[in-house]
Amino acid sequence: MNITGKTKILGILGYPVNHTISPPMHNAVIKMLGLDIVYLPFEVKPSNLQHAVNGIRGLGILGINITIPHKETVVKFLDKISEEVKLIGAVNTIVNKDGCLIGHNTDGYGYITSLKEELNFSAKGKKIVILGAGGAARGILTALAVKKPEAIIVANRTIARAVSVVKIFKEKFPNIKFEAVYIDEDMLKAYFQYADLIVNTTSVGMKKKGILKTPLEALPKTAIVSDIIYNPLETPLLERAKKLGLITHGGLGMLIHQGAKSFKLWTGIDAPTKVMRKAALKAVKSGGGK
Ligand SMILES: NC(=O)c1ccc[n+]([C@@H]2O[C@H](COP(=O)([O-])OP(=O)(O)OC[C@H]3O[C@@H](n4cnc5c(N)ncnc54)[C@H](OP(=O)(O)O)[C@@H]3O)[C@@H](O)[C@H]2O)c1
Repeated sequence: MNITGKTKILGILGYPVNHTISPPMHNAVIKMLGLDIVYLPFEVKPSNLQHAVNGIRGLGILGINITIPHKETVVKFLDKISEEVKLIGAVNTIVNKDGCLIGHNTDGYGYITSLKEELNFSAKGKKIVILGAGGAARGILTALAVKKPEAIIVANRTIARAVSVVKIFKEKFPNIKFEAVYIDEDMLKAYFQYADLIVNTTSVGMKKKGILKTPLEALPKTAIVSDIIYNPLETPLLERAKKLGLITHGGLGMLIHQGAKSFKLWTGIDAPTKVMRKAALKAVKSGGGK
């Protein structure tokens, strides 16, 4: 890497940020394409977020990814937000257009692109159960809802959060049946027996974060069990699903495709996703993304 006075900067803001595998993923693409850009991690405490966002303008940084815990709080510091962000309330990508900071969310795109690429899944007419109601869940909900599924059930530990998500989406997509339920093994059985797809968007299943109790036995044999966690690559949920003969889908593809869409927003270039996948896999296997 040859950094000069002309080198442009991309990066990621989070706290902590030492777990992120976005720098190796994006720098592999930058290197392969021969671009004069570098992608850096920035550890930003919540109390410094506004200063950091002003720094994007002040330093002329080309674009930024936003990760936990800033995805929702950053919205108020931006100049413009996409239609998707208006619905989701969370940003994972900022584009700096001549000092005007525009917030986007590429998580939902990343998810459905990966599901299509790996399993040729189309959500049209399907019954879907989403576990979790956080930022990632709302991004995925938006991307799935525009594909016209029959029903989407949102199950969450904090039921009030699921209820408020469902209320917003019911108004926006009146032809889809939405329901909010408490995330409870017995309660979920009734919904699982008709589900075509279940998606874990909770952080349960990440290393040292426990195991999510779900009635996978109740699912039809044709159902897909999807987990957006990518470290471990095979979560305990996916391991159980595999043992039951169900179709499984992990989170690495989502990470790659959300990154590729961010890259396109910043540079106008289609990122080679094979290069991203190779770099991301190497980073996860060597201990990143925890
Ligand atoms: N593959 C990718 O590209 C990608 C992209 C984005 C996020 N992710 C992953 O998605 C996960 C969620 O991210 P996020 O941004 O949506 O986080 P978030 O906004 O903080 O939401 C976390 C969700 O997990 C639930 N949860 C946390 N601990 C729980 C527990 N012990 N039992 C049951 N539910 C629990 C929360 O429920 P409450 O509402 O009750 O707190 C909430 O629904 C993380 O693991 C993240 O790494 C992956």
